[in-house]
Amino acid sequence: MDPPSRSSVIIVGAGVSGIAAAKVLTENGVEDILILEATDRIGGRMRKEVFGGVSVELGAGWIVGVGGKVPNPVWELAAKSSLRTCLSDFSHVSYNIYDRSGKVFPREVAADSYRKAVDSATEKTRNQQETDGGGDFSGATEPPPTAKTPLELAIDFVLHDYEMPEAQPIPTYLDYGEGEYLVADERGYEELVHKMAHDFLVTSEGKILDSRLQLNKVVREIQYLRSRVTVTMEDGCVYDANYAILSVSIGVLKSDFISFQPSMPGWKTEAIEKLDVTVYTKIYPKFPEKFWPCGPEKEFFMYAHERRGYYTFWQHMENAYPGSNILVVTLTNGESKRVESQSDEETLKEAMEVLRDMFGPNIPNATGILVPRWLNDKFQRCSYSKYPVISNHQVVQSIKAPVGRIFFTGEHTSERFSGYVHGGYLAGIDTSKALLEEMRKEKERKSEFVDP
Ligand SMILES: Cc1cc2nc3c(=O)[nH]c(=O)nc-3n(C[C@H](O)[C@H](O)[C@H](O)COP(=O)(O)OP(=O)(O)OC[C@H]3O[C@@H](n4cnc5c(N)ncnc54)[C@H](O)[C@@H]3O)c2cc1C
Ligand SMILES: *[C@@H]1O[C@H](CO)[C@@H](O)[C@H](O)[C@H]1NC(C)=O
Repeated sequence: MDPPSRSSVIIVGAGVSGIAAAKVLTENGVEDILILEATDRIGGRMRKEVFGGVSVELGAGWIVGVGGKVPNPVWELAAKSSLRTCLSDFSHVSYNIYDRSGKVFPREVAADSYRKAVDSATEKTRNQQETDGGGDFSGATEPPPTAKTPLELAIDFVLHDYEMPEAQPIPTYLDYGEGEYLVADERGYEELVHKMAHDFLVTSEGKILDSRLQLNKVVREIQYLRSRVTVTMEDGCVYDANYAILSVSIGVLKSDFISFQPSMPGWKTEAIEKLDVTVYTKIYPKFPEKFWPCGPEKEFFMYAHERRGYYTFWQHMENAYPGSNILVVTLTNGESKRVESQSDEETLKEAMEVLRDMFGPNIPNATGILVPRWLNDKFQRCSYSKYPVISNHQVVQSIKAPVGRIFFTGEHTSERFSGYVHGGYLAGIDTSKALLEEMRKEKERKSEFVDP
């Protein structure tokens, strides 16, 4: 069914933030919305793929921030969907650091190095707070690499690229607690987005049949005028609305894939330019049998190499999916970029060499490998936004501030929770509330005008 050519609100993107925004609008009486999604599915960066007989998460994998005084809203959504999760205990990861000859660093040595790294990170944060007080944005993102030995580099990677709560004052942990639960559900983490969408869109036999959700609709241009917005698709379709909510990632905004008429004001483009991105790649190799240690305190292990972030952080999937014989190794940023641009066979070869360093030459070859490519995905261009530890209020405000009739949402517009599912979810709610308020004001202005 074709959607009407004019709606109250067009929502670009059907990830968690776009769907949450749409839901709040419909719950507040704004029913004539139109959701335009470039891909053939909803969920965005919450995305499972069936691999080796189980569902693995290419994007978000954990519900981060559980067990504190305030309940994490995503944890509550997960409970409503009875999402299957496993507690991840990262506290032992420094006990399982392998060097290139397969020896595990003695606990005292690793623990000592870990403690020193945490102290220096805490010190660094304190200095930053004192010197720039959240002032200069560009300087705060530069990590001064002080780590040198492979062990120090591995620990530095896990503390910073993995955001261990003891190293940084991360609002998610402060507000919601330090518990992290791995989603291990055949329906995937994206089930939460499906559930939300099913709550307000028309469905039949479990399928969404609602012309207000249009898949495979690639937005290329948004024209914003005094009285309306006009959205043009790659396929030439044009839709009008009173307002637009744009939920595409910061990577897509930076890529200029979507053009604006007139062009965005300087304060907006500058903020988009300034905000950094993180690329985070979870690579899953599968084996005919398991050869890694299992049992308590063994789920996470590390590889210490002289190149920082080179296949450093590993997890076995036995707790999530017993008998699946799947491992996952996480690469970030430069290493992600490198791996995205080479073939999966090359990546598998590198991963096998690393595993043979750790577990010996006789381990079996992998039977398959799954390598997500977030950076090269033109509808993502990153994994998530990267604000400096001390976030800059001005940049966040500019990133989320509306421009004319275009409102912005998405994980990158969340001041406290950027980079997380709950950040995207709460941003969607916030943005639609701000828009409802604007719509109320506009109605008021109009009625003043026509009333005698
Ligand atoms: C590898 C990875 C690991 C992560 N790990 C975690 C984790 O463990 N825990 C956690 O809480 N968070 C994690 N995150 C972050 C979390 O996934 C995101 O913060 C959240 O899903 C973002 O939701 P969103 O709605 O802001 O954006 P998205 O989900 O990206 O939604 C935006 C939508 O816009 C669509 N779109 C883009 N361009 C266009 C266009 N031109 N026209 C129409 N539609 C378009 C996209 O296809 C997408 O569906 C991870 C993310 C990644 C990638
Ligand atoms: C693994 O694969 C390589 C190259 O394909 C091959 O030379 C090697 O013998 C295999 N090893 C095992 C243990 O099967």
